[in-house]
Amino acid sequence: MTTAEENEALTRTGAGTPMGELFRRYWLPALLAEELPEPDCPPVRVKLLGERLIAFRDTAGRLGLIDEFCAHRGVSLWFGRNEEGGLRCSYHGWKYDITGQCVEIMKLKGYPLVERGGVLWTYMGPADRQPPAPAYEWIDVPPAQRYVSKRLQESNYLQAMEGGLDSIHSTFLHRGSVEDDPLLKRDPESAAMLKGDPSPAFLPLDSPGGLHICTRRKVGDDRYFWRVTQFLMPCFNLFPPYGDNPSGGHAWVPRDDDNCWVFNIDYHPRRALSAAEREGAKTGRGVHVPLVDGSFLPVANRRNDYMIDRTAQKARRTFSGVLGVGVQDAAIQESMGLIADRPAEHLVATDKGIVMTRRRLLDAAQSVARGEAPPGLDAAAQRVRAMSRVTPREMPVEDVLA
Ligand code: FES
Ligand SMILES: [Fe+2]
Repeated sequence: MTTAEENEALTRTGAGTPMGELFRRYWLPALLAEELPEPDCPPVRVKLLGERLIAFRDTAGRLGLIDEFCAHRGVSLWFGRNEEGGLRCSYHGWKYDITGQCVEIMKLKGYPLVERGGVLWTYMGPADRQPPAPAYEWIDVPPAQRYVSKRLQESNYLQAMEGGLDSIHSTFLHRGSVEDDPLLKRDPESAAMLKGDPSPAFLPLDSPGGLHICTRRKVGDDRYFWRVTQFLMPCFNLFPPYGDNPSGGHAWVPRDDDNCWVFNIDYHPRRALSAAEREGAKTGRGVHVPLVDGSFLPVANRRNDYMIDRTAQKARRTFSGVLGVGVQDAAIQESMGLIADRPAEHLVATDKGIVMTRRRLLDAAQSVARGEAPPGLDAAAQRVRAMSRVTPREMPVEDVLA
């Protein structure tokens, strides 16, 4: 069981908190590259780990992520002019470069911002501990093989990520929402194997950078159907595809303790995404979500009860009455409250992946507090793939994962 103290430690990510210090040791997705499309484009407000920041691309195309507020009188630099190699405050004209150095006088806080895989990544930790650039497989495939979107979720990052680790919920929450989706539809063989064993075994295993969350179903008398989802420190998931579908992934980045940025990734390691897959992603199918124009707020959100359709629910067209896999996840997870009350839970065997993830996060935060490096910073740990396969029953799990 997760205690109230552990729940605090797991969910608070401000500067100086145990989890905040852990998250600050990793490169984190901060924005989509398309949010800063060209030199001297408008600056963008970014809140991450409770810190209010401004991202901008200067005249030379260099990227910066600095304190949102001017050192002079605390005005938001979002109103600033981005010109001639820096961002100039609109109040009295103080000017800052991409590192936060004020050309006139002093320096604001500033973090590195690098573009990789269609995403702008930042590292908010101590400069002398900066890890190598992120190396997740989806970053390095050609752009034609990848699609990344972003949405705001109005809950703490952890309950959002725990939804991603809890594969059993698909059978209920997402029932009726995958059959005709170009990104999620199941091939007949997998669908038959899923149906064939309605009570899978859950076997989460530690990996160097997180967990392999293995779900094992019996096939006939002598085989197993394995599906392996990955958790990677501190806030990444990877999902196996069905058939030749693209693979999926998420990053659940704390915006503050009550909100998170959800980055949704589709990628195929071997082929370009098809026109139907790309169009599906753009229009909010698969793990993507239709957004209010000019924002990252989902069209269906808590203000409109996620546009729940009780008729569709009654007619069993969807299990929850909410449309779309991503909106279903957001609706259910936001309904737990801004920060889920973990001490009040009643966890069961199928929640083992969630329990182990909490343990990995707490252990890693303790390692950082002791002055050690956290796990999962190196490319070898990040280069894992979610997968599914059918094996003979006698194959040891290490070989299944190999
Ligand atoms: S407040 Fe920014 S220059 Fe005065
Ligand atoms: Fe889900």
